[in-house]
Amino acid sequence: MKKSYKAEPYRIKMVEPIREISKDKRIELLENAGYNPFALRSEDVYIDLLTDSGTGAMSHEQWAALMRGDEAYAGSRSFYRLESVVKHITGYDYFIPAHQGRGAEQVVLPKLVKHDNMAFISNMHFDTTRAHVEIAGARAIDCTIDECFKTGEYHPFKGNFHLDKLRALIDERGKENIAGIIMTITNNSAGGQPVSMANLRATAAIAREYGLPVLIDGARYAENAWFVKQREQGYKDKSILEIARETFELADIFLMSAKKDGLSNMGGIIAIRNDKELYREVQGTVVPMEGFPTYGGMSGRDMEALAVGLQEALDEDYLTHRMDQVRYLGERLKEAGVPIQYPTGGHAVFVDCKAFAPHIPFDQFPAQSVVNALYLESGVRAVEIGSLLLGRDPDTKANIDTPLQLMRLTIPRRTYTYAHLDVVAEGVINVYKKRKTLRGLRFTYEPKILRHFTAKMEPIG
Ligand code: F0G
Repeated sequence: MKKSYKAEPYRIKMVEPIREISKDKRIELLENAGYNPFALRSEDVYIDLLTDSGTGAMSHEQWAALMRGDEAYAGSRSFYRLESVVKHITGYDYFIPAHQGRGAEQVVLPKLVKHDNMAFISNMHFDTTRAHVEIAGARAIDCTIDECFKTGEYHPFKGNFHLDKLRALIDERGKENIAGIIMTITNNSAGGQPVSMANLRATAAIAREYGLPVLIDGARYAENAWFVKQREQGYKDKSILEIARETFELADIFLMSAKKDGLSNMGGIIAIRNDKELYREVQGTVVPMEGFPTYGGMSGRDMEALAVGLQEALDEDYLTHRMDQVRYLGERLKEAGVPIQYPTGGHAVFVDCKAFAPHIPFDQFPAQSVVNALYLESGVRAVEIGSLLLGRDPDTKANIDTPLQLMRLTIPRRTYTYAHLDVVAEGVINVYKKRKTLRGLRFTYEPKILRHFTAKMEPIG
């Protein structure tokens, strides 16, 4: 196999020690955590692949920028610096910060829900996006291509919208009942899978035809642009910024969790192309929900760090290294026979746990079982993206089934080395060898919304 890789395009200036605790201790801690690794203390985790959200390392330029933070309540210099970067990248007229992605969602999404029985359609809603759609009284409908569910089969853009289905959904429900089309780039829940420019363009054209607003949920928009450059004809000579701008031209509203491609530990972005009325409405709501519109829940220093991070995330050397780490881990697993969502996407390797542990039914959460086994095996924390996360059908209250019962090994930005990834690969491969011994889980406590964060469980049998 191709074990070769290019070295990190950075050197290490500061270190944070990590340690591996004993297996006996891990057994005890996982039981105490109710078999839900969200309840583990981070110091009891050796390599933390729970998420790439806010867990990356800042650059020296970002640390330096922190010192420039202007903490004025209104009209902060740091706001104007960040605003100029966001406008430069998106080309949009209006910008409001939010404390993180879901802050942006809670302020903007309800504005588009005008009456009962409305729905948003997305290639795939992220879980907080889905929650805010539902809190706003609307339905969240996913509309991804079928290839996305065939984990073992190659497709360059598994995050794409299913265009025929999209049109049929709009016709079926009536365009007056569609609140907006949300382009999630990359498609996180399906494997960090990219969406092609051609597909984004066709989706936007359908939305325009029906007069529907187009939103970009662009937590990982730079990673998506990198895939377009690599895999789509006509883009190899364009810069990441040019591709990103072309993407933003297709939409009306940009919502971003800046904790991903903002290379920051905290922050969110609301950008609106040119709808002044919507901007004013959002501005009105952001004050009581997030903060005054020139800070929106962010400190001045965080806005400074984000202004720098947004630009660094467009750097091709950085992106190439990041994607190569994901590819490397994916290849190591695939070579050992571990089923993964293939090809690997932007921010994580997604292990197909329906294929990994086919003896565990979906409502006993096979991916959660693998996540737990991996922690016990090697102290690595991953996360379940499957039926545990999806929760229950709002009408029938039944657990939602999905062919995608995934364990996400999420790689924080600029944080771990290839040596760490080898530890992860070996841990997963060892669990795979013992896969027949894995057991399903049942709830001992099940919260009503976003249950995966705080649920408590126990192994069955
Ligand atoms: N949209 C997408 C596509 C996301 O991946 C996330 C967060 C959000 C919105 C919400 O942003 O966390 O800043 O409030 N994803 C994280 C994850 C939590 O682990 O994938 P947030």
